[in-house]
Amino acid sequence: MNIKTVDWKRGRMRIVDQTRLPEELVYIECRAPEDVHDALRRLAVRGAPAIGIAAAMGVVLGARRSKAADAAGLMRDVRKAARYIGTARPTAVNLFWALRRMLETAERHRAGGPRALTRLLEREALAILEEDNAVCRGIGRHGAALLRDGDAVLTHCNAGGLATARYGTALAVVYAAHEGGKRIRVYTDETRPLLQGARLTAWELARAGIDTTLICDNMAAKVMGEGRITCVITGADRIAANGDTANKIGTYGLAHLARAHRVPFYIAAPLSTIDPATASGRGIPIEERDPDEVRTFAGRRIAPRRVRVYNPAFDVTPARLISGIITEVGVLRPPYRRSIAAALRRDRR
Ligand code: MRU
Repeated sequence: MNIKTVDWKRGRMRIVDQTRLPEELVYIECRAPEDVHDALRRLAVRGAPAIGIAAAMGVVLGARRSKAADAAGLMRDVRKAARYIGTARPTAVNLFWALRRMLETAERHRAGGPRALTRLLEREALAILEEDNAVCRGIGRHGAALLRDGDAVLTHCNAGGLATARYGTALAVVYAAHEGGKRIRVYTDETRPLLQGARLTAWELARAGIDTTLICDNMAAKVMGEGRITCVITGADRIAANGDTANKIGTYGLAHLARAHRVPFYIAAPLSTIDPATASGRGIPIEERDPDEVRTFAGRRIAPRRVRVYNPAFDVTPARLISGIITEVGVLRPPYRRSIAAALRRDRR
């Protein structure tokens, strides 16, 4: 995508306001940690890697606003900003990964004065942004090798350029295969309640010139039953140490459908989405969102005002249903506890 989903300009974070797509491509600026928190909560910026980048920039905004006269005072303000931003959304581990990385950077350099420390934090946030581009390219390269000319991929939610700095994870695989000359078709689930598939994935795939077909979520079984899909690829919000994977609500059902139809089911995600501290999917916190997201459709009420609603934003796909996890260091295969630990060990070296 030639769009910068999250960017840093003259001391401010600049993001595409994804709540306005596909009607209009509008950028908004965040000047304080509160603006970043608000943008995260209302999904103006969303998708695990983009959430991590925005969180890192939110910490920089907290440091820039600080009036502290020494590094200790600045550290207090930075920690406060990080704590606050960390309350925005609970599931995508990239949020906490990025905050931890920013706090570790601050701790390492606290001997310098507040101005030097703020500059270092800014540099670290920009490094996270730049690394994301390289990581997504790597995911694309490894994933594209799994696709053959003529393949039809089913995807869910948006794991494209809009969910990262620029290139995407699940869609990076499609983009890389397409750039490599393979003809790839994509079926895009609309992804109720907030329609990230219809509003965002269909939009960015069409812009990229990829053959796209939009379906309602409840059409996936029929489409697979008709033999139209050769593989499913989705992103991830958090991958536990055993490979269990949290992603947008509906992913778990797709994984079962893929198994029933003997279609490979892949997760595409950076290593920063792996949470080695969480042993299995049972430990992944699942965000529950406002019931009105379900009671309404495109801003219009479609259910009784007081009807009880259950609105989990994510579900967990057990590792046994996942054919492979496409990362920037290669495709991890079962048994995941072992392949994940080995990939993280290699990455730390
Ligand atoms: O609620 P969202 O829109 O932030 O959910 C996003 C997803 O579930 C994505 O699939 C996931 O974050 C991977 S993004 C590369």
